[in-house]
Amino acid sequence: MGFAPWDRLASSLRVPSRVELLDDERLRDKGVSVWLKRDDLIHSEIPGNKWRKLKYNLVEAARDNHRTLLTFGGAYSNHIRATAAAGYYCGFSTIGIIRGEEHLPLNPSLAYAVQRGMRLSYMDRETYRRKSDPDVIAGLDREFGPFYLLPEGGSNELAVRGCAEIPAEIDIDFDVICCPCGTGTTLAGVAAGLKAGQQAVGFSSLKGGEFLARDVAELQRRTFGGSSDNWRIEYGFHFGGFARETAELDAFIADFHAPHGLALDWVYVAKMMYGIYALTENGTFKPGSRVVAVITGPPGPE
Ligand SMILES: Cc1ncc(COP(=O)(O)O)c(C=O)c1O
Repeated sequence: MGFAPWDRLASSLRVPSRVELLDDERLRDKGVSVWLKRDDLIHSEIPGNKWRKLKYNLVEAARDNHRTLLTFGGAYSNHIRATAAAGYYCGFSTIGIIRGEEHLPLNPSLAYAVQRGMRLSYMDRETYRRKSDPDVIAGLDREFGPFYLLPEGGSNELAVRGCAEIPAEIDIDFDVICCPCGTGTTLAGVAAGLKAGQQAVGFSSLKGGEFLARDVAELQRRTFGGSSDNWRIEYGFHFGGFARETAELDAFIADFHAPHGLALDWVYVAKMMYGIYALTENGTFKPGSRVVAVITGPPGPE
């Protein structure tokens, strides 16, 4: 690819991430094979889909000679943390526009971002809702000078392209690949990277996430000029909604951790894994199915 702005990162990036068989008799009894695509191990500070989404944005920012990355997020945003780390390792200044008011002392997420050199600025919630409007962006430009703009969550066409690289890294002949859905960016990319005959299934971590199907199709259209029909979304595994957890989900995470030694992120990944077991149990995944689950991140810092 020529110049890569992450030269300082190269030795610590674990890409391609490893693929491992999930050895579990509940799956074996149903004749379903599940492999874990361990994107959570890509980098300790820029893990999983954070790296996938940032990669081509970093290339673009460097190519356009930008010195500063500016992005948006809530006070606990993993994307804010990852952007701060990416800037630190790749030689960009970083500005984090944080939704709402400043609370001191900073929580561990924001304290980490500052430690990685990020300058924080707080935006009231009303303006934050309009953060993509040209007048709000122009105001940020006046305040901070030129910057490369990363949308909230890093979700744009270049992020989709980064996620589209996941399937080609898997040298198993699989039928279905699963990923969690928050904005649908990961699913849009993963589905676009599949071979003929393979399907992608996204698991919405949002209650009422039916709008995601439109968003995924739109992200694919914006990125590739057309949408694919090789994906679908499961809406029944949100456990009450975004960042909601239940005793049942907690028990599932503990039951999974004990034999497999992997702590699942409860906001996204655990809901997908629960869904994979449920679809295996109810026969949606037929005997003989070969399923890959993308572990899109480690448990968050909170
Ligand atoms: C660990 C993890 N998995 C999945 C997602 C959701 O991904 P997407 O917004 O691309 O649907 C996120 C949010 O970015 C995340 O942090």
